[in-house]
Amino acid sequence: MKLNFQKKLIDWYSVNKRELPWRETREPYFIWLSEIILQQTQVRQGLPYYLSFAETFPTVWDLARASEDEVLKLWQGLGYYSRARNLHKTAQLVCGKYHGEFPDSYTELLKLPGVGDYTASAIASICYDAPTAVVDGNVYRFYSRFFGIKTPINSAGAKKEFKSLAQEMLPGSDTGNFNQAVMEFGARQCRPKSPDCEVCVFERDCKSRKLGMVNILPVKTKRQKIRNRYFNYIVVRSVQNRKVLLSRRDKPDIWQNLYEFPLIESDRPIEKCADLPEVDIIKITDVSNFNTTLYNPKDIVHKLSHQHIHAKFWIVETDSILDRGIEPYSLESYPVPVLIQDFMEEYGLIE
Ligand code: ADE
Repeated sequence: MKLNFQKKLIDWYSVNKRELPWRETREPYFIWLSEIILQQTQVRQGLPYYLSFAETFPTVWDLARASEDEVLKLWQGLGYYSRARNLHKTAQLVCGKYHGEFPDSYTELLKLPGVGDYTASAIASICYDAPTAVVDGNVYRFYSRFFGIKTPINSAGAKKEFKSLAQEMLPGSDTGNFNQAVMEFGARQCRPKSPDCEVCVFERDCKSRKLGMVNILPVKTKRQKIRNRYFNYIVVRSVQNRKVLLSRRDKPDIWQNLYEFPLIESDRPIEKCADLPEVDIIKITDVSNFNTTLYNPKDIVHKLSHQHIHAKFWIVETDSILDRGIEPYSLESYPVPVLIQDFMEEYGLIE
């Protein structure tokens, strides 16, 4: 049964696999880069990011030498920015401690910042043919349907259960190819919504197909409640020279180390200029003479996985020359959350 499964999957993969730049190489730097990006997004959305990283930083040394701002800028839009910060840290560690060569074992790879069981297994198998099975969202879905497993995939024991099953199914050689085949099968055939069961090579073997459970597997328990946050961005502009104030989010919170406009966070929506705490604005602008208008009376709701950000942009114009301000032409080089990027474009601060 296992050999049959492996053969069917590999045959399917050899016909259906997409040609992707990271499938043309076994160089750990490029495999690592692609897997970190693909943890964050799907192949289609991840590909342009991969290409721009690989072009800007053709070697791990180039990435290590870059500034964190530069790395965050290229990552901008992918979300989960700690991944980008860890990417940079790992590049520096690989250059500083390993002379630019990635470690070649699962255990050593696991020690790198941002490299967990998934990434270490992917790199070790794809680059070094190590017997380490990957478990990502695709693998959870495919195996939970194929074997009819009802364990919620976000429950405490799920990782261990699926890892050991995936490990069991792994062939004795060519493990990198097999791992990619499982993931590709999950992404392209055993899709989350309306999978193509009628034309599936596993139609007769699939337990959930037999039991009519394809559409209820994998099981996922309801996640934690969404937290609502109210962000009032203070867009301070000098009418003298058009400079704008930016600040860096240095606290351990969403978007750490990205830039934004000075922020006043409130417990509930603020509707009128008069309700904005004036002392805070004075603290931000360092001047007492300014004119405030509300740009968007209706909140812009920016949804993250566990938080909804309700954003308002308040335009504060001042006669001050804003020494600490940023020239409009250089705004574009700062890594900012997509919410801020969209505003800057719509308001005409950048093109
Ligand atoms: N998803 C993440 N990494 C992948 C890979 N190497 N092949 C297919 N899908 C993936």
